[in-house]
Amino acid sequence: MAPDELPRIGFGTLRIGDSTEVVETVSQAIEVGYRHIDNAQKYDNQEAVGDGIAEADIPREQLFIASKVNESNLAYEDVLETTRETRDALGVDTIDLHYVHWPAISGEEDRYDPEETIPAFNELLKEGVIDRVGVANFDVDLIEEAQMLFDAPIFANQVEMHPLLQQEELVVYAQENDMYLVAYSPLIRGEVDEIPDLREIARKYDATPAQVSLAWLMSIDNVVPIPKATGDHIRENYHALDLKLDPEDIDRIESIERERRIVDRGKGPWQW
Ligand SMILES: NC(=O)c1ccc[n+]([C@@H]2O[C@H](COP(=O)([O-])OP(=O)(O)OC[C@H]3O[C@@H](n4cnc5c(N)ncnc54)[C@H](OP(=O)(O)O)[C@@H]3O)[C@@H](O)[C@H]2O)c1
Repeated sequence: MAPDELPRIGFGTLRIGDSTEVVETVSQAIEVGYRHIDNAQKYDNQEAVGDGIAEADIPREQLFIASKVNESNLAYEDVLETTRETRDALGVDTIDLHYVHWPAISGEEDRYDPEETIPAFNELLKEGVIDRVGVANFDVDLIEEAQMLFDAPIFANQVEMHPLLQQEELVVYAQENDMYLVAYSPLIRGEVDEIPDLREIARKYDATPAQVSLAWLMSIDNVVPIPKATGDHIRENYHALDLKLDPEDIDRIESIERERRIVDRGKGPWQW
């Protein structure tokens, strides 16, 4: 069994590189201290991620392993079959947190059918293949619709979130409903380095813009960032845990008006 609570920071595993690089990067991340590994069927690297977890040699009960069902696998039987395959590929007995990755395949007209998909998640909970349920790229209406059908509380909603996409409504919803808001692309895929406010704040603490972005996210109750990194960035990002921003710097980040969304392909409700 994984811990009851999500660690304050997790580790993303999208587009790390070839299998050898994935194994090395994931095991290095766990050795540095990350205990929550975010994966998905879509990333097509489950076995290498599983090998990285095994290589790190940390007791299983200290790790929180998350995966997601691809939007092409949301039919009842496909959820069951592909999730069992994912669990086996990751080399675990149970996936600690399993998400619906997107609520549609490409747009509102092929929106997912909750009555088809969610009973399969309930079956997987019953079988012990998964331990908790999550949704990703959902808005409040979609969360509430899904919650009526899940047999367990929705543990997390995973959405893009960073200083240029602050997700105020979903933050309040997560806090009021005792749910995590897992922040993906928390470094704006590296663009944090180009934001003047973050660069100036970073100078004050002898930190980096990436650490400032992560420290800001971690200052918000219920929010958990999952940066992806390789090489020295793995440790740099983990040490954002040591950075406590002054209230005036948090206010400055929260008053940034520029908006930027990286992941935008018609599959999320903000475009419907
Ligand atoms: N649910 C969804 O639909 C969804 C969508 C997207 C992502 N995700 C999840 O969220 C995770 C993170 O999001 P992401 O991978 O899109 O973007 P991200 O974590 O914001 O950014 C990753 C990029 O930032 C660079 N980087 C890492 N640390 C840095 C640092 N300290 N300074 C400067 N650049 C740095 C990385 O380069 P290096 O490799 O060189 O370190 C990489 O190019 C993914 O890996 C995945 O697990 C979920």
